[in-house]
Amino acid sequence: MNGHRLLLAGALTLCAIAPAHGAPDVVRGEQVYARCLACHALAFDRVGPHHCGLFGRVAGSVPNFSYSPAMKDSHIVWNDKTLDRFLSSPLKTVPGTSMTYDGVSDTKDRGDLIAYLRHANDTPECAKPRPAPANRR
Ligand code: HEC
Repeated sequence: MNGHRLLLAGALTLCAIAPAHGAPDVVRGEQVYARCLACHALAFDRVGPHHCGLFGRVAGSVPNFSYSPAMKDSHIVWNDKTLDRFLSSPLKTVPGTSMTYDGVSDTKDRGDLIAYLRHANDTPECAKPRPAPANRR
C-alpha cells in the first residue's frame, strides 16, 4: 500500500516537471542552429562534422573527418551537459579545437539549440545518409 502511494507521488512529480514553463523550444533551437550552418550540416560533413547521431557519440569520432588533435584527445561524450559546456565556449572547453567559433553565450539559446539537435536526430534528414540495401536491384 505504501508502494502505491510512492508510485503515485512519483507520477505526480513527473507530470509537474514535464510541461514546465522554461522548457526548451525546439523551433527556436532551429533558428539558433542557423549560426552553425556556416560550417555544419545535420546529415553530412562540411567544415565541421555532421550532427546526426551526435548524442552519445565520442568527440572526434566521425570516420574520415579531419579533427584537431585537441578534439580527438578530449574524450568528451556528447550529451546535454557536455554540449552545453562546449557550446558556451568551444575554445575554452577544448583548447586547440579547430572550431573557431565564439560559442552561444545565452543559456536559453543553448538549451533550445541542444533540444533541437536531439530532436533533429529523429527526423527523416538524419535517416537519409544510411544507404538503403533495398536499392540494389
Ligand atoms: C567556423 C565554423 C564552425 C561553426 C560556425 C560551428 N562549428 Fe562546430 N565544428 C567546426 C569544426 C571545424 C569542428 C571540428 C573541431 C575539431 O576537430 O577541433 C566542429 C566540431 C563541432 C562539434 C564536435 C563534433 C564531434 O563529432 O565531436 C560539435 C558538437 C559542434 N561542432 C557543434 C556546433 C554547433 C552546435 C554550432 C553552432 C552553434 C557550431 N558547431 C558552429 C566548425 C564550426
